[in-house]
Amino acid sequence: MAKKRVLSGVQPTGTLHLGNYLGAIRNWVEEQSQFENYFFIADLHAITVPHDPAVLSNNTYAVAALYLACGLDLEHTTIFVQSHISAHAELAWLLNCITPLNWLERMIQFKEKALKQGEHVSIGLLDYPVLQAADILLYQADLVPVGEDQKQHLELTRDIATRFNFQYASAEAPLLTLPEPLIRKEGARIMSLTDGTSKMSKSDPSELSRINLLDSPAQINNKIKRSKTDPIRGLSFDAPDRPECHNLLTLYLLMSGKSSAAVAAECAEMGWGQFKPLLAEVVIEGLRPIQERYASLMADRTAVATVLKRGREQAEEIATQTLCQVKDALGFARPL
Ligand code: AMP
Ligand code: TRP
Repeated sequence: MAKKRVLSGVQPTGTLHLGNYLGAIRNWVEEQSQFENYFFIADLHAITVPHDPAVLSNNTYAVAALYLACGLDLEHTTIFVQSHISAHAELAWLLNCITPLNWLERMIQFKEKALKQGEHVSIGLLDYPVLQAADILLYQADLVPVGEDQKQHLELTRDIATRFNFQYASAEAPLLTLPEPLIRKEGARIMSLTDGTSKMSKSDPSELSRINLLDSPAQINNKIKRSKTDPIRGLSFDAPDRPECHNLLTLYLLMSGKSSAAVAAECAEMGWGQFKPLLAEVVIEGLRPIQERYASLMADRTAVATVLKRGREQAEEIATQTLCQVKDALGFARPL
């Protein structure tokens, strides 16, 4: 039986943090041999909020190098840059024309980001989920591993595909594959270190709120030491009204590889002063090999560029095929 196809992406905005790693990339790596994988760098998405042209290209390479440093293996995985394949933007336009405006106005992430942008909200920010649908549908992906925050965008993708298939294909031979979200329970929503009720995010103005994958041991120690806690002694996963406690234990669980029962038992009697150095240690040691591989990859840009070139060639073949089928179904005149 053919392997199922998996696709996902990360925007090259700011540095990647533990939320990106534990909610997304690490899961891609762990399961990659079971699937045919496509992981890309969503640079077209990165310009939906004001961006700095001077750093976009460097950030794109940095995310590609982090993908490789985290363990994505080219034997199972194709890595490419979204803007290198023009079919993404083109399919997004075609899908725009069948997507009702009110489907987009409902998107939680749009509403949140639009609030921050004030009067400068671009059409691109509203249209972001349609571009995301195009990313996924172009590759006829079966599964899309992401964090919890992307669930609504995946539901929208399914709605758009269903509508397209209904209007322009037939029930017996649907043209676009409906993707399933793959959201792991643990790590799906890593929370901020300074507020256990809001998610760890690249856009939080406080550096202390997140641990970046490239933070030094001293930075990691400092951030964990200063992370928000409470005066209660004894740590447990589901203590009511202790979101920070749940989050820090989850980080410890995921970074140490221990079971939740083992962590619950180990930490049941601990105070924060004892727990925080332990957590810092597993985070530092867990990130160390990634940081070392990242440094050597970034020292040789041409190797990363070569990976992206090969990825583009492989991905483009599938993307172009789907785009042609969609254009045929919509009735466009074929060029000679
Ligand atoms: P982004 O940084 O928005 O491009 O997100 C890249 C991937 O990381 C997506 O799959 C997100 O769902 C995931 N992600 C981002 N922040 C978090 C978080 N705090 N917890 C878990 N997953 C996250
Ligand atoms: N919107 C996603 C995020 O911010 C990134 C993304 C773009 C994506 N296109 C995608 C994720 C397609 C999965 C599939 O996290």
